[in-house]
Amino acid sequence: MDTQQIIQLYDDYVMNNYARKNLVFVKAQGSRVWATDKKVYLDFFPGWAVSGIGHCHKRVVKALQKQAGQLLHVSNNYYSEMQGRLAERIALNSFGGKVFFCNSGAEANEAAFKLARAYGNPQRNEIITMNKSFHGRTLACTAATGQAKCHVGFDPLPAGFKSIDFNNKEALTNAVNESTIAIMLELVQGEGGVNIADKSYVRFLRDLCDKKNMLLIVDEVQTGMGRTGKMFAYQHYGIEPDMMTLAKSLGGGMPIGAMVAKKNIAGTLRPGMHASTFGGSPIACSAALAVFEAIEKEKLLLNTINMGEYLKGELLQLKGKYPIIKHVRSLGLMFGIEMIINADRAYDFCLANGLLINCTQGNILRIMPSMAVTKKEINKAIEVLDMAISKC
Ligand SMILES: Cc1ncc(COP(=O)(O)O)c(C=O)c1O
Repeated sequence: MDTQQIIQLYDDYVMNNYARKNLVFVKAQGSRVWATDKKVYLDFFPGWAVSGIGHCHKRVVKALQKQAGQLLHVSNNYYSEMQGRLAERIALNSFGGKVFFCNSGAEANEAAFKLARAYGNPQRNEIITMNKSFHGRTLACTAATGQAKCHVGFDPLPAGFKSIDFNNKEALTNAVNESTIAIMLELVQGEGGVNIADKSYVRFLRDLCDKKNMLLIVDEVQTGMGRTGKMFAYQHYGIEPDMMTLAKSLGGGMPIGAMVAKKNIAGTLRPGMHASTFGGSPIACSAALAVFEAIEKEKLLLNTINMGEYLKGELLQLKGKYPIIKHVRSLGLMFGIEMIINADRAYDFCLANGLLINCTQGNILRIMPSMAVTKKEINKAIEVLDMAISKC
């Protein structure tokens, strides 16, 4: 089928809930993606952070091929080695604890809300989140997301969520009451524009949670699995959360989500209280195990730190050159370039010139290249970005 025929199929049969660009992709490898027009794109926003270690990573592909011939799925009424091994790997790389598996970030957050409420039941059920946060598109995740534009048209949203200003200790102190059971945040807000939590704020948050016996839930759906230069973003802060949620790059391209909780909290969930038919399937878990293996064996955390520093230096040079760049914010390989004007033109220019990035909040270009990105790829991306910003 050619490009137009495929787009026509979407027009006829696929719901129109995404603002798609007229591009059809057929193949991808590492940081490169091929379209039906034979053009090759440099992908600096691989699958909204799903292909965190690069597209079609050879270890993931190999693991999938092996597992596909053996056992794709087994119901959660039984055991499978892959799920057990992946839970162990997540626990050993984080704060211990136990894992519930599902298929997406929203489901992982839903599971976190349910566990927090079950833990606080019956007196405490309110969950505080942050303005400009993004936690997913189910009804409860929509209620938790601190962006009014995401709420429009979906009333009544589930009760028991309220959002407050990010990085604001006073707002936090004022918001907490006797029915608050948990505080949930992204340590680097992705959709919100790559806003980074202050160290002192996160320590304050942890202390307050300890003092008031509230749960600290960290949404690591976007920041987890090495994106920020540590396996999980909370590891930059010298604290441990009580719960964290994962998805996106956990599966290296396969759909998988996980909610991790400290053992004393995890014990609240008993058989029958929560479930997922597909959650933790051997095929998805085998891919996630390969992602851990790639990060460790190929030293991708180190590459994320080094390439993150290099890209930051290059972007700060662009900031020096173009006053329309207000801020460059980053942690590891998670970048936000905030402009004083709308950034759509820069985004469109990049797309037309073979560079895939993202634009969020209207004026912030978001860049999250593969953790295996090279200097050469960064130089190419900077060349295109330089031209793009010069045209704004
Ligand atoms: C921080 C964060 N949490 C949750 C989600 C929702 O994940 P999913 O789209 O897999 O449901 C996203 C998606 O962008 C996200 O960035």
